[in-house]
Amino acid sequence: MESVKLPAKFALKNGVEVLVRDMVRADEPAVFEFFRLLPLEDRHFLRNDVTDPIRVHNFMIDDTHDRVRAVVAELDGRIVASAEIDRNHFGSMTHIGQLRVIIARELQHQGLGTILSRLLIADGVNAGIEKVLAETSTENKAAMLALEKMRFRKEATLKLHVKDLAGRKHDLAVYSYDVSHIWDKMEALVADYSPMREY
Ligand SMILES: CC(C)(COP(=O)(O)OP(=O)(O)OC[C@H]1O[C@@H](n2cnc3c(N)ncnc32)[C@H](O)[C@@H]1OP(=O)(O)O)[C@@H](O)C(=O)NCCC(=O)NCCS
Repeated sequence: MESVKLPAKFALKNGVEVLVRDMVRADEPAVFEFFRLLPLEDRHFLRNDVTDPIRVHNFMIDDTHDRVRAVVAELDGRIVASAEIDRNHFGSMTHIGQLRVIIARELQHQGLGTILSRLLIADGVNAGIEKVLAETSTENKAAMLALEKMRFRKEATLKLHVKDLAGRKHDLAVYSYDVSHIWDKMEALVADYSPMREY
């Protein structure tokens, strides 16, 4: 699968042009600022308390996962989106990629979430990931619609599985996108054109 070469500019549906590039360690203050400005509703189910600079620092150096790729979108020098795909270092789930995408309110529903997700899924496939997971609260209709439009399938709803920042419990929808068919096709292609093939 062809990876998009970054940095690259993308025009969104409202005509705004954003620069998408790899996240680098020097982005830490700008990433912190991006997270800090997120409305509470968009922060409810994040893995980290992103209002705490130490947590954001830990997120930047993420040593608990094998980060396949983390990207940011920039507009006028500000970070307006953050997205990553991670996998476990070791164990039975190294073929699973976990996708996480957050878009600044002002730029939501302009196609950026889809652009970043597709880009990261392609990188995941190239890194050997066979299945991509994404999770969202079942109340987050926009996220569920966005995932379904990208052909993710809802695999499970975990009842009262996540707590929001006020301690209220919510159902969690687990979505997956199985990319193993892409590997099957590639293997078939290699077998078809392999000089070792017997006729
Ligand atoms: C969920 C999220 C990542 C989607 O990214 P996005 O850039 O806003 O979404 P896109 O513009 O690519 O939209 C794709 C589809 O999602 C749906 N969608 C997106 N935003 C929507 C909204 N505000 N209302 C209704 N549907 C919406 C639509 O079906 C849309 O397709 P359409 O443009 O043809 O109508 C983004 O809204 C976000 O960051 N939300 C807060 C954090 C979050 O929920 N993260 C995701 C957890 S998986």
